Amino acid sequence: MSLVTTKEMFEKAYNGGYAIGAFNVDNVDIMQGVIAAAVKTRSPVIIAISGGALKYMHPAYARHAALAAAEECDIPIALHLDHGKSVDLCKQCVDNGFTSVMIDASAYDFETNIAMTREVVEYAHARGVVVEGELGAIAGIEDDVVVDDKYGSFTHPDDAVEFVRRTGIDSLAIAIGTAHGAYKFKPGQKPQLRFDILQEISAKLPEFPIVLHGASSVPRDRLDTFNRYGGQLPDAIGIPEEMLRQAASMSVCKINVGSDIRICYFGEIRKMCALKPNKFEGREYLEPARTAVEEMVTYKIEKVFGSAGKA
Ligand code: G3H
Ligand code: ZN
Repeated sequence: MSLVTTKEMFEKAYNGGYAIGAFNVDNVDIMQGVIAAAVKTRSPVIIAISGGALKYMHPAYARHAALAAAEECDIPIALHLDHGKSVDLCKQCVDNGFTSVMIDASAYDFETNIAMTREVVEYAHARGVVVEGELGAIAGIEDDVVVDDKYGSFTHPDDAVEFVRRTGIDSLAIAIGTAHGAYKFKPGQKPQLRFDILQEISAKLPEFPIVLHGASSVPRDRLDTFNRYGGQLPDAIGIPEEMLRQAASMSVCKINVGSDIRICYFGEIRKMCALKPNKFEGREYLEPARTAVEEMVTYKIEKVFGSAGKA
């Protein structure tokens, strides 16, 4: 199979009341773990590569690794640029074989966000590539962004409608209370997402795919391993799985997972290095880490996102 866009997978996910996982990969090892889980569960999957990860992997290596995955497997696989911070980067990824790009101009004012997003859409659509835009402030790496209206820093439903109409995007990342990183909520704070806002947006944008960023659930067992072997995330708290299930059953068609991958992969490497410090072959450390990613992604697909068997 060749790499596909997210168009068909989102249509089916929307109608089927489930979501597709977009998993952040930093290297081929992690990519293989994610793909193995998707193959095993017969699920469509989105390989998400951020600008930083792309630099680290090198665009040609990233493209060829994803192409190899698509060639080897008979499930739909999309190659997606995550949080493209400039129009140029998005265009480069379109030219480099990505089937989906995210232009994240959410730090700019509304009109600039629209103009940048529109430019990416025109370029990408002319080349058969789909585009995700972002509106609203997703906490964490975007903590400094403040939107001052009655919806606070969350996405305003009317803005979402105008943004989609004027940009022509294929999916929209919204802010309803998730945050990037391992700390989604302040210590003692009750996890809460604004499903009322999601509902309002969905009502105004029928059949339009919504994207949830900052959606790691920070599984307790993986976090314990990470922290036991030197990790420094003592009170990390994720999005409760039940909330992710609820989002997936609504208009959320894509759920982004980055921190869970890191906690899982590097937790296992830390553990292996501590338990078997004298091993010489790097594979002895890396293979269990890759397997841990595969197990975690398998669980998400089967038990949380609901995309198993939908390939
Ligand atoms: O774009 C990537 C995701 O939004 C990652 O969020 O760190 O909560 O998994 P996360
Ligand atoms: Zn994100």
